[in-house]
Parts: sequence; C-alpha cells; structure tokens
Amino acid sequence: MDLQYAAVMLRQMRISNRLPASLLPTAFSMLVEARREAPEFLDLTVSNPTQCGFDFAEGAWTPALASEEVLRYKADPCGSLPARVAIATHHGCGVHPEDILLTASTSEAYSWLFKLLCDPGDQVLVPSPSYPLFEHLAALEGIETVNISAYFHERWCSDITALESACGPRTRAIVVVNPNNPSGQFLSIGEWKDLAALCATRDLALLVDEVFADFALEPAVDSLRTALLDGDPPCPVFVLSGLSKVALLPQVKLGWILLRGKARACLEPLAFLADQYLSVSASAQAVAATALLAAPARRTKVLDRAHDNLICLDEFLKEYPHLSRLPVEGGWSVLLRRPVYHGADDVACAKRLLEETSVLVHPGSFFDLPMEGYLVLSLLTPPRNFREGLSRILPRLPVD
Ligand SMILES: Cc1ncc(COP(=O)(O)O)c(C=O)c1O
Repeated sequence: MDLQYAAVMLRQMRISNRLPASLLPTAFSMLVEARREAPEFLDLTVSNPTQCGFDFAEGAWTPALASEEVLRYKADPCGSLPARVAIATHHGCGVHPEDILLTASTSEAYSWLFKLLCDPGDQVLVPSPSYPLFEHLAALEGIETVNISAYFHERWCSDITALESACGPRTRAIVVVNPNNPSGQFLSIGEWKDLAALCATRDLALLVDEVFADFALEPAVDSLRTALLDGDPPCPVFVLSGLSKVALLPQVKLGWILLRGKARACLEPLAFLADQYLSVSASAQAVAATALLAAPARRTKVLDRAHDNLICLDEFLKEYPHLSRLPVEGGWSVLLRRPVYHGADDVACAKRLLEETSVLVHPGSFFDLPMEGYLVLSLLTPPRNFREGLSRILPRLPVD
C-alpha cells in the first residue's frame, strides 16, 4: 500500500500512542533512497558488518546449527547453559553463567529491562549523544526517556549535576553506553564512580550498554574498559551486550544481560518475563560458543580496518586544517568536526554533500549531538570507498 495513503487510513483507526505519531520517512531519508541507486553513490555510514566486504570465513561456526541442541529443543527462559558459560568466559571478570540471561538482541534486552524496572509513566535518563534507540524502545513500554546531554570539554563528559537534577520521583534507571556510539568515548573511572554513587543514593538501576567494549581504538588512560571491572557496585548494574557487535553476527540475533551487584536478585523476575516470549532461538544458542571462539579473529579484522580508515582520514585532514576529528576511544564511528557556517545545519550539510557528491554521511543530529558542526562516518566502510568518499566530500566543507 502507498505510504501516504496508508498514513491517511491509519488516522481513521485507533492505534496505541506508544507508536510515533508519524512513520513517514523524513525528507533526508527519502533523498537517500532516491540517490542510493546511482552508480556513483558511496555510503560512508555502512555499519552492517555482513555488508562491508570482510572475509570472515563463515563456515567455521555453521556446523553447530546441526547439533543435537537445535534438533531437541529444551526451553530454558534464562537461555542454554553452554551458551551462558561461553558468554561468561568471553567476559571474564568473575562473571558467572548464573548471572546471565539471554535475549534475541540488545534492543530486546532494553525492552525487558524497562518492563522489569518501570511502570507505565516512569522515566529513565538516557545519554545524548547516542545511537537513536532508546526513545522508541521506552515509548513502546509506555515509559518516558529524559535526554541528558553530555558537555564537551576536550572530551564528552557525563553531566552528573544535570543527571542528579533530572532525577524525580518517577525516575527508575540511568542508561549509559560504554563506549558511546557515536562519540566513541569510554566512561572515565571517575565518571563511573559518580554514576554508581548517584544510582545508589537515588535507588536507581544503572544500565550499561557495552556492545562496543571490545573495540578499543584510542582509549584514554583513565578509560573504564568495562563496568564488569567493578565487581561489587553500590547499585544494581545491568550490563548489555550481544553477538551482533561482539562477534560481528547481527543475523544470529543473540544478546544478553549480565547482572551485577544487587541486580543479581533480578534473575527470577527476568526469567519469568523471558518465559512469556522464549524469543531466543535454539540455533542462536547453539552457535554462541563457537561464534565467541571465532570472535577475536573477526574483531581484529574490523579493528585493523578502523585503524586504517583513521590513518587515511588523518592524512586527508592535513590538507584541510579547518576540519578535524575527535579521538575514537572505541567503537565503529568517527566524528568529523567542521566549522558551522551561516545557515547550514548538519542535516543541510549532509543533504548538500549527498546531492553534490553522491556520498552519504550522517548528520550529528541523527545521534542527538547537542550542537551543530559534526558529521558521523562509519569506520567499517571498505577502505577504497572511504578514501574516495573523503576525496569527494572534504573539498566541499568550506572554511566558513
Ligand atoms: C549502542 C548500541 N546498543 C545496541 C544496539 C543494538 O544492538 P543489537 O543488534 O544487539 O540489538 C546498537 C546498534 O547499533 C547500538 O549502537
């Protein structure tokens, strides 16, 4: 059905307010779709590792799909023990398989944690900048997100004072992404201590998304490389991750929640919740151990490419001193900083680049960056496309 016509029909029906008021594509995404088919189109935002030309030797883990575990499915709401043992081994840091619960993705893990911790109308504090994920996931559970912007002072810093002032009677949790997507920053050890202390004082849970934690590129010396290093946090801590990033296997659909500190008491209620869905497939659970064994070699390929792309960008930037990039402590993206010239916000800039050069980059506002002047590039982009894309867009980013 035609999208515009469907939108008109929908207005005549009653659907839940949990969904966005409009699902029509933005002008920018319509432009992207229109340009995508052009032969000269280059996508500098690709972040699906299965479509970035990596040679991952996929055959290694597929025999697990024919295993007895898959053929004789035994439902366990927490997930199969062998998969949880493999995940505990992958993380180390004294994680026990009994403190792990499997989900079909990290996004699903968020939904289950929101269900676990919040009643409709409750609030969670979420970081900004960040991957655009939380608002919709929270709204679908009938809860609100309150965006707390990091402030930029040499690096993006968590605004603990703003977080504290935003805590109200209906606040239930704080979400952090370590390292952040797209700013690439790990929490500092000091930030971690402040966040955990704030959550303990206010009786809040701390949700730590660590899907990119194994992709450290230029970490600062005081980076907290994983929240799991704090073996005894003062507040309930839920760490989220999944095969989609850890093993570059988004198609397998396997995520997990690690329970730390007082959160360990939540295994039973979470298992009850998971039991209503049993959404994790037997095949995903069966491949977990083999996929995690193969994961370090796969991540090395991604890290090598990200390093090479950063070197390439730095070489280019020597010719354009009015442009710069932020350090990438970890993750798959780099923030390119440009002077904000008259009347051109980041969406207008990305749109102009797409129209003039057929190169797609993300405007910073896509990730809720609290100020203009940033474009986001994916470091997973095949190097030849990355170089060619830069050679087309950088001359089009003028001094003022
Ligand atoms: C920070 C962050 N968390 C979670 C996800 C979703 O991961 P999954 O594919 O496991 O749902 C993404 C996706 O890119 C992400 O960037």
